[in-house]
Amino acid sequence: MYGRAGCWGGARLQPIGKLRRGGDPAKGAAVFKSCALCHNIKAGEPNKIGPNLHGLFDRQAGKAPGFGYSPGLAAAKFKWDDAKLDKWLTSPQGFMADATMPFNVANAQDRADAIAYLHQAAEAP
Ligand code: HEC
Repeated sequence: MYGRAGCWGGARLQPIGKLRRGGDPAKGAAVFKSCALCHNIKAGEPNKIGPNLHGLFDRQAGKAPGFGYSPGLAAAKFKWDDAKLDKWLTSPQGFMADATMPFNVANAQDRADAIAYLHQAAEAP
């Protein structure tokens, strides 16, 4: 029954740059449990230690209403996409020197899964 699954399975092992939404949102939900310490993601929920991530892909970076960002992120002039999120989650301070997010995700597959979950959850009504 998995006769055609080989190519999909292989694709999952490629580096993140080639994954492009190759992550598994269900696994990403599990990864997000660590993020949820600091981030809500449902519409209308308050900011915590980190900003509410709802609508993340529709707004510019650093613009969650009422959240006190680092100067770098507050002044950001870009929108988050998968490649930027992958760099951010690898190392927030590597992505932006003054970033105040004290958390990173070392495993590339975990990052891809988390990003797939972010797409699903941040865009949910
Ligand atoms: C210990 C608290 C903490 C944890 C855990 C954490 N974050 Fe954050 N996050 C922050 C803070 C603080 C900021 C604001 C950073 C700044 O202003 O430089 C932030 C910012 C962000 C942003 C930018 C949001 C925007 O509005 O531009 C994203 C995306 C993000 N976090 C995703 C995640 C994900 C995904 C995880 C889990 C893998 C995670 N964070 C775990 C504290 C946290």
